[in-house]
Amino acid sequence: MVEVANASHADTDWLVREDASSGEAWVSRCVTLGEYLVAKEGSEIVGFLRFSRFWGRVPYMEMIRVLPGHRRSGVGTALFLAWEEAMRGEGARLLMTSSECDESRPQDWHRRNGFTETGAIELPGLQSVPEVFFIKPIA
Ligand SMILES: CC(C)(COP(=O)(O)OP(=O)(O)OC[C@H]1O[C@@H](n2cnc3c(N)ncnc32)[C@H](O)[C@@H]1OP(=O)(O)O)[C@@H](O)C(=O)NCCC(=O)NCCS
Repeated sequence: MVEVANASHADTDWLVREDASSGEAWVSRCVTLGEYLVAKEGSEIVGFLRFSRFWGRVPYMEMIRVLPGHRRSGVGTALFLAWEEAMRGEGARLLMTSSECDESRPQDWHRRNGFTETGAIELPGLQSVPEVFFIKPIA
């Protein structure tokens, strides 16, 4: 049975380890601001969702990741649905996310959750392939 909750500071070490590209300072900042959800099975964390807000107001899912041994059992969906519900509760009318253009599996997963592709941008010097953006109206 998976339970989704806001991450707490007690989860910081796990998040620093598993959300490795973020670094400790950014992880702590996001935990403090409530920009992490974690999925727990019992006392074990098995996945997380990290977000921010485009223009400071449009919820933007930056990363969702489920530990390899726990995939395809509904954990990612539980994280996403809890986030969508929380954002709707805040009055959001649109959700955003993005992915590298050659990552077809995460993109399929985003589409499965109701996102549609809305465009791509090139990021010379940062990434060798364009980043594709997805939106989901939730009003
Ligand atoms: C993408 C990810 C978060 C999905 O989480 P998950 O817990 O494995 O997904 P769920 O079990 O909730 O999936 C729900 C449904 O989507 C399907 N699904 C799972 N992964 C999928 C994928 N990569 N592509 C298409 N469908 C997928 C499942 O079969 C399931 O369908 P079903 O209920 O009909 O069997 C997880 O696979 C992951 O961490 N991947 C690596 C990191 C990543 O790519 N993150 C996304 C980009 S930031």
